[in-house]
Amino acid sequence: MMNLKNIKSLIAAAAVIVLIMFQASCYYPKSSPGWEYMPDMANAITYETYGENSFFGDSMNSRLPVTGTIPRGVYSPFHYSMNPTGYDSAGAYLKFPGWLDSASLADGKHLFDIYCAVCHGTGGKANGPIVSSTQIKNPYPPPPNYFTEPLLSLPEGKMYYSVHYGKNLMGPYSKVLDHDQVWKVVYYVKSMQKHFIDSVAAAGAPATAAADTTKK
Ligand code: HEC
Repeated sequence: MMNLKNIKSLIAAAAVIVLIMFQASCYYPKSSPGWEYMPDMANAITYETYGENSFFGDSMNSRLPVTGTIPRGVYSPFHYSMNPTGYDSAGAYLKFPGWLDSASLADGKHLFDIYCAVCHGTGGKANGPIVSSTQIKNPYPPPPNYFTEPLLSLPEGKMYYSVHYGKNLMGPYSKVLDHDQVWKVVYYVKSMQKHFIDSVAAAGAPATAAADTTKK
């Protein structure tokens, strides 16, 4: 026959057991999730980005976008093919977009000074540091001066084309600058040229004749 004392100590023992179980259930080592009744997708198997796997043909975890995918907002397809016909067509049909304004010009200058001035010079006179520096053993061959022909009258579409695809010693910028940025930078080049033509006209000489005097 259980007396009151026995029942009390039984309850106390049960309480201690429950407390221990409670404590134990709160403890979990980070490396193990413990027991799960219904494991879910939160515990998906992870793969290292540059690791390999056995289920893709090329075994690379890092995947390329599906062919033909266009990232939103950063890329506009360029419809002129990379050949002389594409170059001529760009010259004839590719025109400055209407949104270019004085803020675009400031952006264009900023981009030009970063990406182009190293060769073309901040003023566009083909005297950038890698062309003109006396500290470089084999300086880079100078690009054409923007203020000489045929560059002076090169249409904006051809400029866009050449910046996009590159031309001979000049690399392509289609992966570095987006569509709008190329326009801004070309807008800036054209505005430097316009400034030059206006200043020559103000001085009363034909632009092309005077242009040669600026050539380095
Ligand atoms: C590594 C040096 C270098 C850099 C950097 C460079 N260019 Fe050029 N660029 C050249 C050379 C060289 C040419 C002459 C290419 C030719 O006609 O053979 C040239 C040509 C050009 C032309 C004339 C293209 C044509 O169709 O005749 C334009 C416009 C031009 N560059 C703009 C830019 C702009 C804008 C940038 C910056 C986004 C830039 N370049 C960056 C070296 C460079």
